Amino acid sequence: MKSNEVESIALLKKKYAAFGISPPSLHIVLGSGLGVAFETTDAPKGWDLRGELSFGELPGLKAATVPGHSGIFKYYEHQETKKTVTFQLGRLHGYEGLPARQVIQTVLCAKLAGTERFVLTNAAGSLSTKFPVGSVMLLKDHVNMTGHNPLVGPNPAVPGGQVLGPRFPDMSEVYDETMRNRMGVCFKKNGIVVNEGVYLGLLGPSFETPSEVALFARWGLDAVGMSTVWEAIILRHLGAKIAGLSLISNLGCGLGGSKNLNHEEVLEEGKKAAVGIVQTFFEFSRQEFTNASR
Ligand code: HPA
Repeated sequence: MKSNEVESIALLKKKYAAFGISPPSLHIVLGSGLGVAFETTDAPKGWDLRGELSFGELPGLKAATVPGHSGIFKYYEHQETKKTVTFQLGRLHGYEGLPARQVIQTVLCAKLAGTERFVLTNAAGSLSTKFPVGSVMLLKDHVNMTGHNPLVGPNPAVPGGQVLGPRFPDMSEVYDETMRNRMGVCFKKNGIVVNEGVYLGLLGPSFETPSEVALFARWGLDAVGMSTVWEAIILRHLGAKIAGLSLISNLGCGLGGSKNLNHEEVLEEGKKAAVGIVQTFFEFSRQEFTNASR
């Protein structure tokens, strides 16, 4: 492991102690626009905000640079079970010019500071009109076509030598089926349209051409975005349990949606759906915490 990662893990543990919480049981990454929910809504009854931390405080990380990605962690403790969920508002991306290993630092360090379960969310373009704008797609699997992988280089190891996972980690079940099913039930109960599908991760930052969208759809892929796959790879390597969720913010280019796709449109859809999604995540967290054995 790199020294800044080791220092970041120590800092997280120190912060958990200072906030008076145990290492969070669940870490939810809120992608494009979804973190804005916290501007207009707060946690439901039964939860306490115990602390906040900006990405920029972790050695080697800088604040997020993309609008809609505020770059902070919020730690909410569930009063009844005393378990904590971390909401990560925003993330870093490869298209910002950052190496994969830096992009995944937030979740790598959270995992190694004691968190075992993660939900990775993003905004994505639908590759089929069957997945409507404003609906949610639970990730069954992904295709990493970014051309990069966060495990390139020496296999990450703790200081002293022990590796954190296999050199060639298995990726046969990246997204945990039972966690996904439980999450799906929560979303449906809250009246949100839910499908399951395969997410295609590209580097960006340009959106796809109509020909690319047509090709990816023919390959049987369901939604396309510019994040998530690196975090999923490193977390599986480390043995974490993960679920993934795309908010369908637009139809893929050429599928009959907007003629001129732009980031503002993606953020606008995120904003509309954000409160419902975040409230559902609090309910999902409560259920995970009160049924700890599952
Ligand atoms: N393509 C790639 N990334 C995206 C899209 C898209 O259509 N929408 C939101 N993120």
